[in-house]
Amino acid sequence: MTQDRDGYDAASIVFHWLTAALVLLLWGMAQSEDLIPREWRHGMWSIHITAGAALVLVYLARMLWRLSAARRPDSINPGLLRWVEQAAHALLYALLAATLAMGIVNVAARGWDLFGLIQITGFAADDRALRRSINGWHELAANALLCLVAVHAAAALYHQFVGREPVLARMWWSRRRKH
Ligand code: HEM
Ligand code: HEM
Repeated sequence: MTQDRDGYDAASIVFHWLTAALVLLLWGMAQSEDLIPREWRHGMWSIHITAGAALVLVYLARMLWRLSAARRPDSINPGLLRWVEQAAHALLYALLAATLAMGIVNVAARGWDLFGLIQITGFAADDRALRRSINGWHELAANALLCLVAVHAAAALYHQFVGREPVLARMWWSRRRKH
């Protein structure tokens, strides 16, 4: 059946949706800090840092998989649009890497007590201006990533529901289960 070649492989699909879930969770919890009682905030950021570290591992595994064994279908877009799509995907990977890297620098700069289990000593514990600047770059990268994710998701939904090309099925398991 040629249909099989129309979709991403199972591991790529798991990586994609796990990444999407973690990015939205990390961004959502950071944005809702003010809604959370003060005494819970340290715990909330500990979860942010732990989930962020998990996403770093997911990202590295995804990159290794993509560069080695991943099966990716041909683009549905012709000509210039195909180039735009490839550039957007490359930018998504780059912005994700930048956000993750700045997140690691952020926690290394300020230091953290992670659930009372791991104590990270901050290299900029005495330098408030540097900590603020690093946090600002992390936030900027995260917000830029989320803007591009919104465009990316809108493009996928446009193809799916307006163009009537089943792109979501290419990034889902259902298509293969029909065989
Ligand atoms: C944080 C969120 C997300 C990130 C970082 C992300 C990133 C990516 C990347 C980099 C690719 C290209 C995969 C490759 O060929 O290497 C991709 C493909 C895809 N994404 Fe996302 N994505 C996110 C969320 C979403 C959401 C919310 C949707 C749906 C509404 C979606 C739908 C798709 C689809 C359908 C494809 C496959 C396109 C095709 O068939 O060629 N993504 N995504
Ligand atoms: C795609 C993944 C991530 C997203 C979307 C994200 C998003 C954010 C956002 C929006 C903020 C709030 C900035 C502000 O308003 O001051 C923040 C803060 C922070 N993030 Fe992330 N982040 C991610 C990954 C990470 C990772 C991997 C780490 C470290 C391992 C990390 C550590 C931190 C720390 C330490 C803070 C500051 C906490 C505080 O203010 O006390 N983040 N993040």
